[in-house]
Amino acid sequence: MSGYSALTVIVAVCLATPIQVQAQTQTHKVPWHETTAALGLAKTLPEGTLSQTQLNALTAIGESLFTAKFTTKDGAGRPGATQAIIPTAPRNRATQNFARTSGPDANACSSCHNDPAPGGAGDFVANVFASEGFSNTDFDTTDPQFSNERGTNHIFGAGLVELLAREMSHDLNHLRDTALKDARGQKKPVRVALKTKGVDFGHLTAMPDGLVDLGEIDGVDSDLIVRPFTQKGVMTSLRQFTINAMNQHHGMQASERFGRRWTGTDDFDGDDIPAEMSPADISALVAWQATLPPPVTQTPDDPRWQKAAARGQTLMAEFGCTICHRPSLPLHTLSFSDPGPFDAAGTLNASQVKAPADYDLGGFDWAARLPRDENGAVLVPVFGDLKRHKMTDRSIESLGNELFSQRFVDRNIFMTAELWGVGSTAPYGHRNDFTTLDEIILAHGGDARSSRDHYDKAAAADRSALIAFLRTLRITP
Ligand code: HEC
Ligand code: HEC
Repeated sequence: MSGYSALTVIVAVCLATPIQVQAQTQTHKVPWHETTAALGLAKTLPEGTLSQTQLNALTAIGESLFTAKFTTKDGAGRPGATQAIIPTAPRNRATQNFARTSGPDANACSSCHNDPAPGGAGDFVANVFASEGFSNTDFDTTDPQFSNERGTNHIFGAGLVELLAREMSHDLNHLRDTALKDARGQKKPVRVALKTKGVDFGHLTAMPDGLVDLGEIDGVDSDLIVRPFTQKGVMTSLRQFTINAMNQHHGMQASERFGRRWTGTDDFDGDDIPAEMSPADISALVAWQATLPPPVTQTPDDPRWQKAAARGQTLMAEFGCTICHRPSLPLHTLSFSDPGPFDAAGTLNASQVKAPADYDLGGFDWAARLPRDENGAVLVPVFGDLKRHKMTDRSIESLGNELFSQRFVDRNIFMTAELWGVGSTAPYGHRNDFTTLDEIILAHGGDARSSRDHYDKAAAADRSALIAFLRTLRITP
């Protein structure tokens, strides 16, 4: 984000008015007007602690926006902008509204995220050709050779995932700051293990002069912020991703990134519709996504399946799958604040608003059903570690199929897929090109090689039991 992120901003959305998210009659529009009625319904940026009623009103708008098919009257299309995260003009103005490769490539978020319900995954046909976030590709080409093809992952439980990542980022940053203080005090280098929630991100060495040697960090960015979103693990928050996705897929531009403050115009994409999405619209989308219930373990009544799944669960640990696919990660707070603490310029963050909206995920029925550890932390059953790993070696390399590295992350490195919900989200893999769980497990190379080999060499009944277990991890919207 270089020069762009270096800008200092105070985004003037600190509206003092109380939260008001109930429907307003759009008197200037007839009911059959071909615009998305939910756009602009969230009138002001929600702030402070939201009651369950306020939250419900906000998420209802968010759901409508997630499932809306945006029209050109809403501002869909971006003839004057590419899919890049940083507002970027194409070399040639687009002549067509849609392009399957460079985008805009869809009408609604739920056109892709729909299996088994809005917010879910997508099958191969919903794949995205991503070059947004890359520094070494053309943004406006329609040639698939200039992008990486990704499968649609589901967003159920995404609020819990973002909260886990925030706590991990806080821990890692705290470890670095403490090491720096110690190095200064002791006047010698201090090397610390970067461990949070049991996940090991390597080491760093703090120098007495204030420099930090990051040569030994593993699976996380050098700013020690855990970025839990995308297959690659390179996006920070639902808010950031939503703004990216709105521009990339629909040409719907959020003012907090594409508006006058950054670009000098309210119509950066040049489609004659100014100020297409307000910060409040984005907040509604975030609220809906952040409060989607997490997937659950649901074993069919068939006693054979129950027996096999129980065996499969223990095999996950025996084979070493759980080194990366951790059955659960402990979460200390269920309070979700938006905008969040770690977003950079172009996505609102907590320091740019008077008081971020704050809502309690603990207020949902599903939260009460989540197990807790002896310290009261919620055990989030993600079957992941929010860490990136190398997935290829000399003989197993099918997951090394991308052409471009993304944001300094090598091509064969991906974030551990969270396996919760995997029983509902065939096909599999970052390109959605494995039709069975057996195939994607056998495609694990690199850091996962020994665990994959355990599976490969196991008795047929044990391999089958592992699949039986994975298929109990379901999305039940
Ligand atoms: C054309 C299909 C498509 C559309 C439309 C689409 N998405 Fe996605 N979505 C994807 C794909 C593919 C990924 C994985 C991206 C990657 O790994 O780079 C993804 C990932 C995400 C993620 C990250 C989830 C995770 O756990 O990593 C979020 C959040 C998300 N999408 C939200 C949205 C929102 C909000 C919209 C509408 C503005 C939207 N998506 C529209 C295909 C789509
Ligand atoms: C070193 C870490 C690591 C280990 C060990 C590991 N995995 Fe994975 N797993 C990953 C990563 C990373 C991905 C994402 C790969 C991709 O799509 O590029 C993944 C993807 C998957 C997927 C696909 C999920 C989806 O939604 O597409 C399944 C299923 C899976 N792993 C099961 C297993 C099983 C079973 C084992 C043990 C035999 C195992 N994994 C061991 C890191 C690991």
